Amino acid sequence: MPRRYHVRTYGCQMNLHDSEKVENLLHHAGWRPADGVDDAELLLLNTCSIREKAEHRLASDLGVLREWRSQAPGRVLGVGGCVAQQEGDALLRRFPHLDFVFGTHNLRLVPELVAAAGAGARRAETAESRSQERFDLPERHPAFRGHSPGRAWLTVMEGCDLFCSFCIVPRTRGREISRPAAAILDEARTLAEGGVEELTLLGQTVNAYGRHDARRGRHEAAGSVPFAELLAQLDAIPGVRRLRYTSPHPIFFDEGLIRAHAELETLQPHVHLPLQSGSDRVLERMRRRYDGAQFLRLVERLRASRPDLALTSDLIVGFPGETRADFSETLRVVREAGFVDSYAFKYSPRPGTAATELPDRVPAEEAQERLEELQTLQRALTLAYHRRRVGETVEVLVEGPSRKREPGEAGAGAQLQGRDPYHRVVNFRAPRALRPGAWVRLGLVEATPHSLIGELAGVQPSAPLADEISQPVDLS
Ligand code: 5AD
Ligand code: SF4
Repeated sequence: MPRRYHVRTYGCQMNLHDSEKVENLLHHAGWRPADGVDDAELLLLNTCSIREKAEHRLASDLGVLREWRSQAPGRVLGVGGCVAQQEGDALLRRFPHLDFVFGTHNLRLVPELVAAAGAGARRAETAESRSQERFDLPERHPAFRGHSPGRAWLTVMEGCDLFCSFCIVPRTRGREISRPAAAILDEARTLAEGGVEELTLLGQTVNAYGRHDARRGRHEAAGSVPFAELLAQLDAIPGVRRLRYTSPHPIFFDEGLIRAHAELETLQPHVHLPLQSGSDRVLERMRRRYDGAQFLRLVERLRASRPDLALTSDLIVGFPGETRADFSETLRVVREAGFVDSYAFKYSPRPGTAATELPDRVPAEEAQERLEELQTLQRALTLAYHRRRVGETVEVLVEGPSRKREPGEAGAGAQLQGRDPYHRVVNFRAPRALRPGAWVRLGLVEATPHSLIGELAGVQPSAPLADEISQPVDLS
């Protein structure tokens, strides 16, 4: 009987993908996934510290897990991710029932740390690695399934050197480092051969890929290529139908990348483009290196290249010194950029970041009001965008049961969801259960504030139908 693990992940896609990497390593070490916490012998928490709230969740979860750890002999508890990277062995001291801590550069050590914990050792490994070796991870184990059939994440670079004044990421993820193009292309080919048709390239500032190598005139030695070139090479891989990348920084869009949106057939018409604020004063204090006008010019150039491009964004309200007039600028730029969706956050001071030193904190109630006002504007923009889309026919990659599904509803006729090329969620009903990873053509018939509703216009010939399998796949 293989031993069973369970991983609980907080935070961004980078973290979700790190969890996949750890799971893959555990598969190679003979472990298999448990159904949940209760039947797991090993439990890993992959943490996030981007805002204070995320960080607090770890402390409360670890409190609850004291009991889990003591309920059965031999249980092992480990913590990884951004909080682990920052806190290191302080976590071991604070939580005596915690067996080990692994940092964001030490995923490879997890099987070893688990084994050591079995022998009674409590270790914290958080050394930063500045070598490309940290990208050398084993190929996908045959028994390991990724987060969703048909789709996969692909790391192209890690870390960030920009030090925006609010952001903890450069401290938790370390300096910017790009992976050799040959390794990225190899992994992409293997994924495509294994049936993956949609690839999302990942990096903290993904379109900074290779820029340090270019600056030092060592693209060749480091094995990187310009980002647009990497996209073109991935586009040419047989079997790759959709390419996406996240998250880019506005200052790293060169002509090549903008043109790629017009030229590469598989590059999808959606970009997540974090604005953070529309006020020049605030952007300056955030150290974002662009102003509102430059951001809008970039939006214009991207739209000139790909007129139907859908843009989404990240926004922060209540940054120190943000006045009502600054906030109005954010509302204006959001409107002008016409984001189809955005994630808005209240500024949360992060220890050790430059913004914690800034004066003129915005009162919590004021920040909350601005957040709500921004979200109200975004809801209206999103709904208007969805309404404009009604009547189109789109290709959708099926992800699985709709989140809006009624409890107990499953199988034929169940509500499913997938993503269109613009990364919008489309909900639909299918007369036959469709496997996640199938492709369907949907006529868009209704707009809701969060998603679109589609009607089946066709199942693509290549789509694997669930008739071949006895049970619809549960994605949860
Ligand atoms: N407070 C609030 N939001 C933050 N983000 C990053 N750091 C902070 C912070 N200290 C937001 C940014 C970023 C997203 C991932 O999280 O908008 O783009
Ligand atoms: Fe953080 Fe700024 Fe780097 Fe993004 S670009 S990860 S916001 S420091």
